[in-house]
Amino acid sequence: MRNMDVHLIELADHPDAVDAEPFAGPDHPIRRITRAKAFGEPWTEADSARVQEVFDGLAPEWSGNHVEPVKAAPISDALDRGRVPIDGAWLEVGSGTGAGARVLTPVVGSLICSDLSAEMLRHAPDLAPRVRADASKLPFPDASFDAILLVNMLLFPVEIDRILRDEGVVVWVNTLGDQTPIHLPPSDVIDALPGAWTGTTARAGTGFWLTARRSF
Ligand SMILES: C[S@@+](CC[C@H](N)C(=O)[O-])C[C@H]1O[C@@H](n2cnc3c(N)ncnc32)[C@H](O)[C@@H]1O
Repeated sequence: MRNMDVHLIELADHPDAVDAEPFAGPDHPIRRITRAKAFGEPWTEADSARVQEVFDGLAPEWSGNHVEPVKAAPISDALDRGRVPIDGAWLEVGSGTGAGARVLTPVVGSLICSDLSAEMLRHAPDLAPRVRADASKLPFPDASFDAILLVNMLLFPVEIDRILRDEGVVVWVNTLGDQTPIHLPPSDVIDALPGAWTGTTARAGTGFWLTARRSF
Protein backbone atom coordinates (compact mmCIF):
# COMPACT_ATOMS: atom_id res chain seq x y z
CA MET A 1 0.00 0.00 0.00
CA ARG A 2 1.26 3.52 -0.71
CA ASN A 3 -0.16 7.01 -0.32
CA MET A 4 -0.36 8.64 -3.77
CA ASP A 5 -1.25 11.86 -1.95
CA VAL A 6 -3.20 12.61 1.19
CA HIS A 7 -6.52 11.96 -0.56
CA LEU A 8 -5.90 8.68 -2.35
CA ILE A 9 -4.54 5.37 -1.12
CA GLU A 10 -3.47 2.83 -3.74
CA LEU A 11 -3.72 -0.81 -2.66
CA ALA A 12 -1.66 -3.60 -4.21
CA ASP A 13 -2.98 -4.99 -7.48
CA HIS A 14 -5.37 -7.90 -7.17
CA PRO A 15 -3.48 -11.05 -8.26
CA ASP A 16 -5.62 -11.30 -11.42
CA ALA A 17 -4.87 -7.73 -12.56
CA VAL A 18 -3.66 -7.38 -16.15
CA ASP A 19 -3.32 -4.47 -18.55
CA ALA A 20 -6.25 -4.02 -20.91
CA GLU A 21 -5.59 -4.23 -24.64
CA PRO A 22 -5.43 -0.79 -26.30
CA PHE A 23 -9.00 0.29 -26.97
CA ALA A 24 -9.86 3.92 -26.19
CA GLY A 25 -6.87 6.21 -25.74
CA PRO A 26 -6.80 9.74 -24.35
CA ASP A 27 -8.06 11.27 -27.61
CA HIS A 28 -11.23 9.15 -27.71
CA PRO A 29 -14.22 11.54 -28.08
CA ILE A 30 -16.13 9.90 -25.23
CA ARG A 31 -13.14 10.49 -22.97
CA ARG A 32 -13.37 14.21 -23.69
CA ILE A 33 -17.12 14.26 -23.02
CA THR A 34 -16.72 12.27 -19.79
CA ARG A 35 -14.21 14.77 -18.44
CA ALA A 36 -16.17 17.82 -19.58
CA LYS A 37 -19.42 16.67 -17.97
CA ALA A 38 -17.68 15.66 -14.73
CA PHE A 39 -16.10 19.07 -14.44
CA GLY A 40 -19.20 21.14 -15.04
CA GLU A 41 -20.11 21.32 -18.74
CA PRO A 42 -23.93 21.37 -18.77
CA TRP A 43 -25.73 18.15 -19.69
CA THR A 44 -28.30 19.13 -22.30
CA GLU A 45 -31.52 17.60 -23.62
CA ALA A 46 -29.61 16.94 -26.84
CA ASP A 47 -26.91 15.03 -24.91
CA SER A 48 -29.58 12.98 -23.21
CA ALA A 49 -31.41 12.20 -26.45
CA ARG A 50 -28.19 11.18 -28.24
CA VAL A 51 -27.05 8.88 -25.43
CA GLN A 52 -30.46 7.22 -25.23
CA GLU A 53 -30.47 6.59 -28.95
CA VAL A 54 -26.96 5.13 -28.90
CA PHE A 55 -27.54 2.80 -25.95
CA ASP A 56 -31.06 1.79 -26.99
CA GLY A 57 -29.41 0.58 -30.20
CA LEU A 58 -26.55 -1.19 -28.41
CA ALA A 59 -28.73 -2.92 -25.81
CA PRO A 60 -29.39 -6.30 -27.51
CA GLU A 61 -25.69 -6.83 -28.20
CA TRP A 62 -24.58 -5.37 -24.84
CA SER A 63 -26.63 -7.81 -22.84
CA GLY A 64 -24.66 -10.68 -24.36
CA ASN A 65 -21.16 -9.20 -24.53
CA HIS A 66 -20.69 -7.11 -21.43
CA VAL A 67 -21.33 -9.49 -18.57
CA GLU A 68 -18.08 -11.43 -18.71
CA PRO A 69 -15.92 -12.12 -15.61
CA VAL A 70 -13.36 -9.50 -16.56
CA LYS A 71 -16.04 -6.89 -15.95
CA ALA A 72 -17.04 -8.41 -12.63
CA ALA A 73 -13.47 -8.60 -11.30
CA PRO A 74 -13.00 -4.96 -10.25
CA ILE A 75 -16.54 -4.76 -8.88
CA SER A 76 -16.01 -7.87 -6.74
CA ASP A 77 -12.63 -6.63 -5.56
CA ALA A 78 -14.11 -3.26 -4.57
CA LEU A 79 -16.66 -5.12 -2.45
CA ASP A 80 -13.91 -7.22 -0.88
CA ARG A 81 -11.26 -4.56 -0.21
CA GLY A 82 -12.95 -1.19 -0.60
CA ARG A 83 -14.52 -0.98 2.90
CA VAL A 84 -18.00 -0.55 1.47
CA PRO A 85 -21.27 -0.59 3.49
CA ILE A 86 -22.24 -3.98 2.17
CA ASP A 87 -25.49 -4.26 4.17
CA GLY A 88 -26.67 -0.80 3.20
CA ALA A 89 -28.94 0.70 0.54
CA TRP A 90 -27.17 0.68 -2.86
CA LEU A 91 -27.93 2.48 -6.10
CA GLU A 92 -26.29 1.65 -9.41
CA VAL A 93 -26.28 4.58 -11.84
CA GLY A 94 -25.89 3.72 -15.53
CA SER A 95 -26.62 0.09 -14.69
CA GLY A 96 -27.01 -0.94 -18.33
CA THR A 97 -27.77 -4.61 -18.83
CA GLY A 98 -26.89 -5.64 -15.30
CA ALA A 99 -23.14 -6.27 -15.10
CA GLY A 100 -23.09 -4.61 -11.69
CA ALA A 101 -26.39 -6.02 -10.47
CA ARG A 102 -25.19 -9.56 -11.06
CA VAL A 103 -22.36 -8.98 -8.60
CA LEU A 104 -24.21 -6.81 -6.09
CA THR A 105 -27.58 -8.52 -5.76
CA PRO A 106 -26.44 -11.61 -3.86
CA VAL A 107 -24.46 -9.63 -1.28
CA VAL A 108 -25.74 -6.09 -0.67
CA GLY A 109 -28.57 -5.03 1.64
CA SER A 110 -30.74 -3.56 -1.12
CA LEU A 111 -30.20 -2.40 -4.68
CA ILE A 112 -31.91 -0.10 -7.17
CA CYS A 113 -30.63 -0.02 -10.76
CA SER A 114 -31.06 3.14 -12.83
CA ASP A 115 -30.27 4.00 -16.42
CA LEU A 116 -31.30 6.49 -19.06
CA SER A 117 -31.81 3.86 -21.74
CA ALA A 118 -35.10 2.00 -21.55
CA GLU A 119 -33.70 -0.71 -23.83
CA MET A 120 -30.62 -1.29 -21.66
CA LEU A 121 -32.91 -1.70 -18.65
CA ARG A 122 -35.25 -3.99 -20.59
CA HIS A 123 -32.33 -6.28 -21.45
CA ALA A 124 -31.13 -6.40 -17.83
CA PRO A 125 -32.05 -9.36 -15.64
CA ASP A 126 -34.87 -8.89 -13.15
CA LEU A 127 -32.56 -8.86 -10.12
CA ALA A 128 -33.47 -5.48 -8.63
CA PRO A 129 -35.94 -2.64 -9.24
CA ARG A 130 -35.00 -0.86 -12.48
CA VAL A 131 -35.66 2.87 -12.72
CA ARG A 132 -35.34 4.80 -15.96
CA ALA A 133 -33.77 8.12 -15.01
CA ASP A 134 -31.24 10.66 -16.18
CA ALA A 135 -28.27 10.68 -13.82
CA SER A 136 -28.07 14.46 -14.08
CA LYS A 137 -31.39 14.73 -12.21
CA LEU A 138 -32.13 11.57 -10.32
CA PRO A 139 -35.62 10.97 -8.84
CA PHE A 140 -34.38 10.22 -5.32
CA PRO A 141 -34.45 12.40 -2.19
CA ASP A 142 -31.30 13.83 -0.68
CA ALA A 143 -29.17 11.35 1.31
CA SER A 144 -31.03 8.24 0.08
CA PHE A 145 -28.16 5.78 -0.35
CA ASP A 146 -25.26 4.29 1.57
CA ALA A 147 -23.38 3.41 -1.61
CA ILE A 148 -23.58 4.35 -5.28
CA LEU A 149 -21.93 2.21 -7.97
CA LEU A 150 -20.91 3.56 -11.37
CA VAL A 151 -19.40 1.11 -13.86
CA ASN A 152 -18.11 2.75 -17.04
CA MET A 153 -20.62 5.52 -16.48
CA LEU A 154 -20.55 9.31 -16.77
CA LEU A 155 -20.04 11.14 -13.48
CA PHE A 156 -22.56 13.78 -12.43
CA PRO A 157 -20.84 14.85 -9.20
CA VAL A 158 -23.48 17.18 -7.80
CA GLU A 159 -26.26 14.58 -8.07
CA ILE A 160 -24.10 11.81 -6.64
CA ASP A 161 -23.16 14.05 -3.72
CA ARG A 162 -26.81 15.02 -3.16
CA ILE A 163 -28.29 11.52 -2.92
CA LEU A 164 -25.42 9.94 -0.96
CA ARG A 165 -25.67 9.80 2.83
CA ASP A 166 -23.01 11.62 4.86
CA GLU A 167 -21.03 8.45 5.56
CA GLY A 168 -21.78 6.99 2.14
CA VAL A 169 -19.38 5.58 -0.43
CA VAL A 170 -19.06 6.19 -4.17
CA VAL A 171 -17.78 3.12 -6.01
CA TRP A 172 -16.26 4.06 -9.38
CA VAL A 173 -15.21 1.23 -11.71
CA ASN A 174 -13.56 1.35 -15.15
CA THR A 175 -13.47 -2.22 -16.42
CA LEU A 176 -10.81 -1.52 -19.05
CA GLY A 177 -8.77 0.82 -16.86
CA ASP A 178 -7.53 3.82 -18.80
CA GLN A 179 -8.63 2.15 -22.04
CA THR A 180 -12.31 2.52 -20.99
CA PRO A 181 -14.13 4.99 -23.24
CA ILE A 182 -16.03 6.49 -20.28
CA HIS A 183 -12.92 6.91 -18.15
CA LEU A 184 -11.75 9.16 -15.37
CA PRO A 185 -8.75 8.26 -13.22
CA PRO A 186 -9.41 8.00 -9.47
CA SER A 187 -7.77 11.32 -8.65
CA ASP A 188 -10.08 13.14 -11.09
CA VAL A 189 -13.19 11.52 -9.58
CA ILE A 190 -12.05 12.75 -6.16
CA ASP A 191 -11.39 16.22 -7.56
CA ALA A 192 -14.72 16.40 -9.40
CA LEU A 193 -16.87 15.51 -6.37
CA PRO A 194 -18.00 18.58 -4.39
CA GLY A 195 -16.05 19.17 -1.16
CA ALA A 196 -13.25 17.04 0.25
CA TRP A 197 -13.11 13.29 -0.33
CA THR A 198 -10.66 10.49 0.33
CA GLY A 199 -10.29 7.44 -1.85
CA THR A 200 -8.93 3.94 -1.97
CA THR A 201 -8.13 2.38 -5.33
CA ALA A 202 -6.71 -0.82 -6.80
CA ARG A 203 -6.42 -2.66 -10.11
CA ALA A 204 -8.30 -5.94 -10.65
CA GLY A 205 -9.08 -7.87 -13.82
CA THR A 206 -8.46 -5.51 -16.73
CA GLY A 207 -9.78 -2.55 -14.77
CA PHE A 208 -9.63 -0.64 -11.54
CA TRP A 209 -11.96 0.46 -8.80
CA LEU A 210 -12.12 3.49 -6.54
CA THR A 211 -14.11 3.82 -3.34
CA ALA A 212 -14.51 7.44 -2.26
CA ARG A 213 -15.92 8.83 0.98
CA ARG A 214 -16.25 12.34 2.32
CA SER A 215 -13.43 13.63 4.48
CA PHE A 216 -14.63 15.05 7.80
C1 LIG B 1 -20.84 2.19 -21.16
S1 LIG B 1 -22.45 1.77 -20.63
C2 LIG B 1 -22.14 0.86 -19.14
C3 LIG B 1 -23.31 0.02 -18.72
C4 LIG B 1 -23.04 -0.88 -17.52
N1 LIG B 1 -22.68 -0.10 -16.35
C5 LIG B 1 -21.96 -1.87 -17.86
O1 LIG B 1 -20.83 -1.70 -17.38
O2 LIG B 1 -22.23 -2.81 -18.60
C6 LIG B 1 -23.03 3.34 -20.02
C7 LIG B 1 -24.43 3.28 -19.50
O3 LIG B 1 -24.73 4.52 -18.91
C8 LIG B 1 -26.01 4.94 -19.33
N2 LIG B 1 -26.04 6.41 -19.29
C9 LIG B 1 -25.30 7.27 -20.02
N3 LIG B 1 -25.62 8.53 -19.69
C10 LIG B 1 -26.56 8.45 -18.74
C11 LIG B 1 -27.29 9.41 -17.99
N4 LIG B 1 -27.14 10.71 -18.19
N5 LIG B 1 -28.16 8.98 -17.06
C12 LIG B 1 -28.33 7.65 -16.84
N6 LIG B 1 -27.69 6.70 -17.53
C13 LIG B 1 -26.81 7.09 -18.47
C14 LIG B 1 -26.17 4.37 -20.72
O4 LIG B 1 -27.51 4.27 -21.12
C15 LIG B 1 -25.48 3.03 -20.57
O5 LIG B 1 -26.36 2.03 -20.14
